[in-house]
Amino acid sequence: MGRDQWKSQMGFLLAAVGSAIGLGNIWRFSYMAYSYGGGAFLIPYLTALFTAGIPLLILEFAVGHERIGSAPLAYAKIKRGWEWLGWWAVIFVMFGIVLYYMVIVAWCLDFFIYSFNFSWGNDPDTFFFKDFLRLSDSPFRLGGLRPPIVLALAVIWFVNWAIVFRGVRRGIESANKIFMPLLFILTAILVVWALSLKGAALGIEAYLRPDFSRLADPQVWIDAYSQIFFTLSLGFGIMIAYASYLPPKANITRNALLTAGINSGYSVMAGFGVFAVLGFMASSQGKPISDVVSQSIGLAFVAYPKAVSLMPGGEIFGAIFFLCLVVAGLSSSISIIEAFISAMIDKFGFDRKRLITLVSILGFLGSLVFTSRAGLLWLDIVDHALTHYGLVVVGIGESVLVGWVFDVARLRKHLNSISSIGLGPVWDYIIKYFIPLVLGGILLADVLSEVKRPYGGYPWLALLLIGCNWIFLTLMGAIAISKRKWRTSYFLSAK
Ligand code: ALA
Repeated sequence: MGRDQWKSQMGFLLAAVGSAIGLGNIWRFSYMAYSYGGGAFLIPYLTALFTAGIPLLILEFAVGHERIGSAPLAYAKIKRGWEWLGWWAVIFVMFGIVLYYMVIVAWCLDFFIYSFNFSWGNDPDTFFFKDFLRLSDSPFRLGGLRPPIVLALAVIWFVNWAIVFRGVRRGIESANKIFMPLLFILTAILVVWALSLKGAALGIEAYLRPDFSRLADPQVWIDAYSQIFFTLSLGFGIMIAYASYLPPKANITRNALLTAGINSGYSVMAGFGVFAVLGFMASSQGKPISDVVSQSIGLAFVAYPKAVSLMPGGEIFGAIFFLCLVVAGLSSSISIIEAFISAMIDKFGFDRKRLITLVSILGFLGSLVFTSRAGLLWLDIVDHALTHYGLVVVGIGESVLVGWVFDVARLRKHLNSISSIGLGPVWDYIIKYFIPLVLGGILLADVLSEVKRPYGGYPWLALLLIGCNWIFLTLMGAIAISKRKWRTSYFLSAK
């Protein structure tokens, strides 16, 4: 049986955009923009986008398309000794990122339902941390599982299973054809609604006011690069697998530029909506805006619920907001699962339906730890380890592999022969020199700052046992699986 293929290039573009636009665009981007210098944050963000994000997105599309394979297959076809890198990406993403990502989508589903009667009452902060999460005070005290989260999690895993089960064309492509227009319409309604609220201008001012002094902080740059990786789903193995389902003639470079442009445009637009609402809340409570902006996760689950409670028609506003998060989350989570499924089918020729059923059951069970009372703490530690180290190391690895082991000029020639936008040799230099150097520097700076001050003030033991172990165990798994024999003929077709 041949590999799956998209029905149309539009279907591919929607799926790639669906993967890119996710939870990260709505609250993570907004919060970062606010805390890292408002409008001035756009400087590191756009620098990261142009110097690493877009060149690597083009690279991932090109590798998947030219080598016709998921990440492990594509890397193995370049050089067999590099197959582990592809496995590592799809394994730590499947058995790391997606496990907690699903739990956040499950929270959003719960909050979607809670919006209809403002279940959080007058104190969303207490509601979220004490009643909903029942947050424990240490990662080592797991406590029991939280039934409302487990229930929503089961629904979310079921939806993911149902979509990926139907395959690339009938499942992922069809789902994104519904998800993406729905997401854009719902977001547009929210943004227009938010901008019409009293005090919206105050929020927009806080969102955009540039504070250039923040740019001197290296952390701002580190986080801008890791945000670009996360938001463009780079280093996940997703974009490689998605591009491998394209027909031989495909406008790759243009699709990469469109994906990156729509994704960042969406983030900036969602930021307007988020901050207009915060401005409204500040003005209706007579507080400065800095008092109403919460830390990362609190922005969506504490500040927003508080704001919608004050709004006329807030029930509907809240419901649409959390529905947007659910839809954006689903279109990304299916892509993460597909990156792994695609790799397993490529290597072992497994039956998709059986494989996705098994993977969903294991995934659901694996996600349960994040629904415990220490779930948020585990999530924070694992997310930090995998996005700061896993994704960045894969980014360095793939640029070294393509830049130095493979022939980057040959890949560019392939792209230029099928794309309407031509790439110059500058792309080769970015891949060969710039990306490994910059990402290497970022990695080093990150490690050094961590040694000085353990991340998030967690005990060292927790960071080592949970964060580092997650990295090493997935790496061991990747090396072991890369040593196994190829059970399909795809590998033999390497040129
Ligand atoms: N790219 C996805 C997001 O931003 C993973 O959430």
